[in-house]
Amino acid sequence: MKSPVSRAAAGLGALAAGLAMAQQPAPPAPAFAPAHLTGSGPRNMAMACAPCHGTQGKTAEGSPFRPLAGRTAGETIEIMGQFKAGTRPATVMHQIAKGFSDDEIAAIAAYFESQR
Ligand code: HEC
Repeated sequence: MKSPVSRAAAGLGALAAGLAMAQQPAPPAPAFAPAHLTGSGPRNMAMACAPCHGTQGKTAEGSPFRPLAGRTAGETIEIMGQFKAGTRPATVMHQIAKGFSDDEIAAIAAYFESQR
């Protein structure tokens, strides 16, 4: 059986270890590659458009939404820029466009251009 003294010493040791850990600087934030730079990133970001503009930017027949598939990247980038700036009339696209950086929009636009 441990003596009270050795138990107290063990407790102090644990306390010291806890303090030492508390004093360590926070670990650096993990480095994630920005979505537009990863292989599946553009497709994943384009999923955010799918509920309205259809899977892979292809709308269902009779949908009130315009398809995004097959548009030139330049057109999509231009329109998204207008939504972001608020110069193109919109109900929801002003908000959605603001959720993406210009680099991300370029990657999404390239993805939709490649969808035929
Ligand atoms: C909640 C439904 C919804 C989502 C999600 C959505 N859109 Fe839209 N989109 C619309 C609507 C509605 C319009 C018509 C403009 C408006 O009312 O905002 C539109 C218009 C557009 C247009 C212009 C089409 C044209 O020819 O005039 C583009 C380009 C576009 N969206 C791109 C995107 C992209 C890229 C995403 C994903 C990042 C996206 N949208 C996500 C609903 C949506």
